[in-house]
Amino acid sequence: MKSDRIIVPLDVPELEDAINLVKLLPMVSFWKVGLELFIAAGPEILAYLKGEGKSIFLDLKLHDIPNTMAGACRSALKYEVDLLTLHASAGRAALQYSLKSIEQKPLKLLGVTVLTSLSAQDLAISMDLADYVLSLALLCKEVGLAGSICSPLELNKLRPACGDDFLLICPGIRPSWSYAGDQKRTMTPAQALSCGADYLVIGRPITADANPTLAWSKLVEELEENS
Ligand code: C5P
Repeated sequence: MKSDRIIVPLDVPELEDAINLVKLLPMVSFWKVGLELFIAAGPEILAYLKGEGKSIFLDLKLHDIPNTMAGACRSALKYEVDLLTLHASAGRAALQYSLKSIEQKPLKLLGVTVLTSLSAQDLAISMDLADYVLSLALLCKEVGLAGSICSPLELNKLRPACGDDFLLICPGIRPSWSYAGDQKRTMTPAQALSCGADYLVIGRPITADANPTLAWSKLVEELEENS
């Protein structure tokens, strides 16, 4: 089912708001917990999602020295989440130490390439943004991470270069009927899947809608019709 490939972020400030959202959208099987909620509610939200049988993407976007990142990854093992993010720009050693620290456990480490809210101008780089993203994704692959987070607009370049067994997960997805907000490099869900995304992270078009259940149905319908 195409809807199994949608990950919904719980970008809310309180545990109660998060639980309400999970209850409102029982059909969502994969949830993302990011910095806002994890800092506010801590591991309790992870325990709740586990109890509900959900898959969990812990999006903490770690970026630190190798030893600290390795320790953080090791600590994350106790939550038994499915996916955890690190910034690829933390560098080769940090990624290697992180991977080594989880010792073949089923936790999948994903390298964040360039945030989809950023442009080359924001980063003050003169190189082509897609080339920069590709070099970071290839670094993640070379080190042995499970995959990368990238903009859907980079899939055409990344999928052939990284191969089919490397997970590519895309935020910056906007259905045809929704607003872009601060996301600058977007694609529709159907386009992103057809370009080779494994999972789509779709937040505000669902969670900020006045009727999240209806927004989910509209999104899944559009996805089934156009792919
Ligand atoms: O609401 P929206 O669909 O824009 O949510 C996108 C989600 O994906 C947010 O939780 C954001 O932190 C995350 N994200 C992103 N760009 C990345 C990595 C993660 O927007 N490169």
